[in-house]
Amino acid sequence: MRLLVTGGLGFIGSHFVRLILKERPEYGIVNLDAMTYAGNPANCADLETDPRYRFAKGNICDRAAVEEAVGDGVDAIVNFAAETHVDRSILNPEDFIRTDVLGTHVLLEVVRKFTIGRFLQVSTDEVYGDVPSGASAEEDALRPRSPYSASKAGGDLQVLAYWATYQAPVLITRGSNTYGPYQYPEKLIPLFITNLIDDQPVPLYGDGKQERDWLHVEDHARGILEVLERGEIGNIYNIGGGNNRTNLEITQLLIRGLNRSADTHVTHVLDREGHDRRYALDSGKTRRLGWKPRVVFENGLRTTIEWYQANESWWRPLRSGEFKDYFSRQYTHRLVIAQ
Ligand code: TYD
Repeated sequence: MRLLVTGGLGFIGSHFVRLILKERPEYGIVNLDAMTYAGNPANCADLETDPRYRFAKGNICDRAAVEEAVGDGVDAIVNFAAETHVDRSILNPEDFIRTDVLGTHVLLEVVRKFTIGRFLQVSTDEVYGDVPSGASAEEDALRPRSPYSASKAGGDLQVLAYWATYQAPVLITRGSNTYGPYQYPEKLIPLFITNLIDDQPVPLYGDGKQERDWLHVEDHARGILEVLERGEIGNIYNIGGGNNRTNLEITQLLIRGLNRSADTHVTHVLDREGHDRRYALDSGKTRRLGWKPRVVFENGLRTTIEWYQANESWWRPLRSGEFKDYFSRQYTHRLVIAQ
């Protein structure tokens, strides 16, 4: 089995590449990654000597680069390449539409041209939009509300259109909020952990009662592999951790885990625009394939804290340069207005 993984230097993609190389000796991987701010060579540095692994630098919007990565042919493409951060999408939607919609289109065209056996689109529960109660199932309507989730929904709809129109052999996974080692420190959990390690307060949006379903990255990677190998073509599969928590609860766990105090280390800041209150996923269909999450949330959070404590050399360089500029664009007005 020859796999083209796109975005394999990113957070979930790099865990997927590592899982394949560890547990599927018969698989070979080409990792095509644009090396944007979130595509970090350090995420796969330990894999470079493996003869079953090859890295190619390139953007999924660049058809020539994708075709070159496909080379003599691959059996499947797994698309992790995406702009993924809601707050960045609010500042600059265009990058999201380009990568998440147009990039997906380019990959689908390559799938058609080379009659590639499987195309798996890694998507998100955010395409369902805000879910005040209950849990989203795969056939539910898409009601995305941020430029990010609307871009992912646009990509998903192209994937489904290629199935209906051209019988392209597609699969979609929709994962819930993912956490674990190697996550760029802009998302809630790694941002808060690295702030707290540095004795800085954490910026909690609004009342902090928004709710997410948390999924360990290794469980997410396993779920994607299960769907790739066993999923039925033309289908969508939800992958949820089954750990719904409010942001306040997450904050309290992190504060406690890092021996800080909520009185001094939580700053309530202006809420995100159009902030979805709640996501929740029904993952019954994926569980019926044989997958279930293995990581107990509190253990996963503890080992994630320990990983960031032990790997400052990985994240500290990421919090300088581009990140500082982003952080001040994202948070300065929030702090000022909240006071
Ligand atoms: P995030 O990690 O950005 O994931 P998503 O928006 O895709 O769910 O945010 C998770 C939750 O944490 C979300 O409700 C927004 C909130 N949040 C904060 O309160 N403060 C922050 O600084 C960040 C980044 C997120």
